[in-house]
Amino acid sequence: MYYSDEIIEEVRVKNDIVDVISGYVRLQKKGSSYFGLCPFHNEKSPSFSVSRQKQMYYCFGCGAGGNVFTFLMEYENYSFQEALKVLADRAGVTLPETEYSEEARKRAGLKATLLEINKLAAKYYYAQLRQPQGAAGLRYLKDRQLSDDMLRAFGLGYSNKYSDDLYKYLKGKGYKDDLLVKAGLISYDERQGVYDKFWNRVMFPIMDTNNRVVGFGGRVLGDAKPKYLNSPETDIFDKSRNLYGLNRARRSKKPYFLLCEGYMDVISLHQAGFDNAVASLGTALTNGHASLIKRYVNEVYLTYDSDDAGTRAALRALPILRDVGITARIIRMEPYKDPDEFIKNMGAEAFEERIGKARNGFLYSLEVLRKDFDMNTPEGKTDFMKETARRLSGFTEEIERNNYIEAVAKEYHTGYEELKKLVVKMAVETGMAKPASRPKSGRSKDKGKEDGIQKSQKILLTWLIEDEGIFNQISKYIVPEDFSEGICRTVAGLLYEQYEKHDVNPAKIMNYFTDEEEHREVAGLFHTKIRELSTPKEREKALRETVIRVKNHSIEQAGKNWDAADIEGMQKLMKAKSDLQNLRKLHISVN
Ligand code: GTP
Ligand code: MN
Repeated sequence: MYYSDEIIEEVRVKNDIVDVISGYVRLQKKGSSYFGLCPFHNEKSPSFSVSRQKQMYYCFGCGAGGNVFTFLMEYENYSFQEALKVLADRAGVTLPETEYSEEARKRAGLKATLLEINKLAAKYYYAQLRQPQGAAGLRYLKDRQLSDDMLRAFGLGYSNKYSDDLYKYLKGKGYKDDLLVKAGLISYDERQGVYDKFWNRVMFPIMDTNNRVVGFGGRVLGDAKPKYLNSPETDIFDKSRNLYGLNRARRSKKPYFLLCEGYMDVISLHQAGFDNAVASLGTALTNGHASLIKRYVNEVYLTYDSDDAGTRAALRALPILRDVGITARIIRMEPYKDPDEFIKNMGAEAFEERIGKARNGFLYSLEVLRKDFDMNTPEGKTDFMKETARRLSGFTEEIERNNYIEAVAKEYHTGYEELKKLVVKMAVETGMAKPASRPKSGRSKDKGKEDGIQKSQKILLTWLIEDEGIFNQISKYIVPEDFSEGICRTVAGLLYEQYEKHDVNPAKIMNYFTDEEEHREVAGLFHTKIRELSTPKEREKALRETVIRVKNHSIEQAGKNWDAADIEGMQKLMKAKSDLQNLRKLHISVN
């Protein structure tokens, strides 16, 4: 059901964000905002801010952010509709029985439809598993000792032996072929026509943090290849930003996650009472995964497979987790292959013990390294210590580095002072070697530049929100099209519209977006940290530079895409360039 923009806005306006969030988080006024401990990640000092003026919240620690609807969606795990109902109730607004806005439907558009299709498919597979035709699938899962509770909790299902079973079902529901292909459930080729992607497999629906099905993993019942088949990436399924089991693990009371490799590992662990297990989806851990995890916990226990591949994957995951500030420990599963087999053979208590004995990630990586050296010879041991010292020099914080030096010295029977000297020496050597080994490819340079421009655009948006006087001064020079395509440009467009109507209202802009991820991004756009600049002159200079940067980039982009036959386009470009010259002389007054 879709509600009109007017009613959504009415409910939002009648629920002051500071009042609502105060019911969940203890807030204290600091300047123009309220601050408290972020409910979306563990922290000791408050970086969670709520602004009455903007009617938004934003956490400078984990990047959670949005308006009053987003807050309830994230905190209570509500869908948008549920959050709307609760807040309407709270404010005494009666929601119309059915209201339908074409506009809203179009906007929610493709994504909503793909979610609908995936949900229908999940229900279909789920039902099939419990029908006579699904008996083989059910037997397979039972043989793997999964309880009925777990089958239900994870929504497991079965895709039938026919290759167009689901296709026919979804066609019957009125969906067109191209949508079914976009949903990732149907394949098409000229020879075979359309056919189901999954057949004769047990099906693991992959859910996002709001329990919406975004894709599937399907496992063969026997030993055939490929063992697992996964949905392709689609408009609603980004493998590097989804973790299997996160919809449940995010509710866990434990302050850490167990990160494993397989679907079955996750389910086995949950069944054994480890409700904080998640897995990446048949891909290596990415930065996206790491920052997703960081929203919920600061600590991860890696329970990867015991084979070489698993060990390598764990070692690769360590720096990725470290980069976002997550401490990682490693749990070994020997003599078993993976957590699933370990639990089946040893039980939950033994697993709990292994958690207790988990190795610090860095020390573990040294254990693995050690195998490459002959520690019985002086040369072997020296080389090992040199490499170890080089790695130790990578800890940039002195206290942490010294703690590790101490731990290593103890474990490998070396003097603390000597090791420390070696670390300093290696730091100098690698420091000097660095410039030569830095990637020289133009791509990474461009990427840094791209990030810089993004940052400038965000700063400009934050500025525009925080100081209304700025709009009048710069709207002659900067238009929404100067912002990068995507969320930035859309938000700039909406903000400009609001300015023209003299109704600036950042939280309302969020009504335009339909999911939590987008709300988070938009909130980020309005909360970019602007360097503390003390004098008006400094602020003015910084703002002018930001404006010039954004405009310059926009002109460069336009120049790249310019079509030689487009005379008018060229004239515009020339005008923009001369405007840019004027901008350098522009005097902007800032509050
Ligand atoms: P079983 O216990 O044998 O069901 O598998 P597992 O959960 O132990 O999985 P395994 O360790 O073999 O693989 C870990 C994960 O990698 C799986 O959960 C899948 O997500 C993915 N994976 C495994 N095999 C394949 C494959 O053949 N193709 C693809 N695309 N992914 C796979
Ligand atoms: Mn397994």
